[in-house]
This record gives sequence, structure tokens and C-alpha cells, in this order.
Amino acid sequence: MSIVFLNGSYMPMSEAKISPLDRGFLFGDGIYEVIPSYQGNLLGFGPHIDRMNDGFKGIGLNVDWSHQQWKILCEDLASKNGNSNLGIYLQVSRGADTKRYHAFPENVEPTVFGFTFKIPEPPIADKAIAKGYKVSTAEDLRWQRCHIKSTALLGNVLHFQQGYEQGHDETLLFNANNELTEASSCNAFIVKDGTLITPPLDNQLLPGITRYMLLDILRKDGTIPVEERAITKQEVLDADEVWISSSTKEVGAVIQVDGSPVGDGKVGNVWLAAQRLFSAHKFNY
Ligand code: PDD
Repeated sequence: MSIVFLNGSYMPMSEAKISPLDRGFLFGDGIYEVIPSYQGNLLGFGPHIDRMNDGFKGIGLNVDWSHQQWKILCEDLASKNGNSNLGIYLQVSRGADTKRYHAFPENVEPTVFGFTFKIPEPPIADKAIAKGYKVSTAEDLRWQRCHIKSTALLGNVLHFQQGYEQGHDETLLFNANNELTEASSCNAFIVKDGTLITPPLDNQLLPGITRYMLLDILRKDGTIPVEERAITKQEVLDADEVWISSSTKEVGAVIQVDGSPVGDGKVGNVWLAAQRLFSAHKFNY
């Protein structure tokens, strides 16, 4: 039975109860994070908490926990749940009011919830065993504040489902100008002539922590050039490699887009080189 944290206490998941008037439930009015933990070692902890604090600011939610408080919570959750390969899920909602009313309530304590779930072994730099992802494409029909890691994920869920129903692992999303934004639960990248290219950060995509670490590691190493710029759908279809990244997958190579092979349809050499570097440096954050 997994042990969860809810509003100051640890308890078995089956005992964790929140009010149906919680604004996380009624409005998706909250912020969340997913932090990977491998045998108790947190990946990208500081940047994850910084992004969560940006989210609180972005939606006007007053939460004053220090990094140290969040760290103790994450480490306790990991150890109480067996310290294997875990995603640590943190969610803070605007709390449970006594009525359903859109305006922010006054004097209502935020609901703080944390639990863990198993995540796969992180990929290792070996083309023979690396998973090759298959993805669909769709017009990005989510809201215009995708930089906020909001719990209101219905737009993302519907896009994920589009790919899932076609037997695919993800859905790549394109804005009204046919430019890549991200995927429904991952950031997205292409490789062309040896250069890694990814859309620049703005309101159309989440500032992924895996994306941040990957770009930082590659720039410090210098062997794989990195560009942040708009990418057209045609460029995705013509790319030598396509990648997706998230805290639960790390960096994954896409081998098919809408049923057509990416490059030669196999996990690529630039992915291999980048994965080697990512594995070597990922715990520096
Ligand atoms: N998803 N873009 C979206 C829309 C995401 O939901 C995620 C992460 C990412 C990648 O961000 P990061 O590298 O910080 O995990 C990009 C998480 C894992 C989820 O919702 O489960």
C-alpha cells in the first residue's frame, strides 16, 4: 500500500480524503510537479521546486514552503515507498471552500498532497534496447498558459488520448501557424544535420526540467549544437531524428510520426550521444 502525504500527515493512500468542494477537484485550480527519484536520489529537485513556485505566483496562490521543506517531504515520500524508481507527485490546490464560487476564496488553506508512483528504469545509451516512440500529430487546442504546470490537464488528456487511440505513445502538437509547441505530456525536439532544435520557451509550452537539463548539459559539452527556434511541421516530417522528454521518460527517441518513419525509422546516433551525456551529468541539478 503506498503511503501518501496530505495536509501535514502521512497515511496509506486508502485513508487520504479531500472535500468534493476542493478547488483542485471542482476547477482544476492547482499546481503540480513530478520529480523523478532513483533509489532515493532526486533528479532536478531545485529547478522543479523553482518551477512550482513560479506556478504558485502565476496563479496567485500563497504557499511559503522553503526548498528544504519540500526536500524533506520528497525524501520522506521516497523512503516510505521503498526508494525504488519513483515519480514523486506534488500537488497544491487552492483548497476547499464552503461553496462553489469562481473568485479566489479568502482564508482557505491550500490542499497539499504528495504521492509516489513507479517509473521505468531510466534509458541507457544503447540503441539496441532503447524504446522507440511512435507519435501522432494534432493541432494544439489547449489554453494559452501552457507554461503554467496547472492541474487543469483536460486539454492535454484529450490530446494524449488522440495518439493513444491510434496505438501511439504521444501526440505532437502544432499551433495555428503549423509550428511545433510540445507533446501532450512531454517537450519535443528535432535533429537536423547534427543540430538539436527545440521550440523556444513561451506561453505555448511547459518549461520542462528534463528539457532544461538536457540543453544545459549539451551546451556545456559543446559537441552537439543546440538551437531554440520555431520548428514547422514540415521540418518535423523531414527531421533526421525526433525526441520527446519528460521526468518520467527522460529523453526518448521517436521512430514514427503519424505512421511514417523518422529518418531511417530507428533510434538515432545523435540521441545515443546525447543520452550518454545526459546519463553522465543528470544528477548535477
Ligand atoms: N509531464 N510538457 C508537458 C505538457 C508536460 O506535462 C510535461 C511533463 C513536460 C516535461 O516536463 P518535465 O521534463 O519537467 O517533466 C512537458 C509530467 C511528467 C506529467 O504530467 O506526468
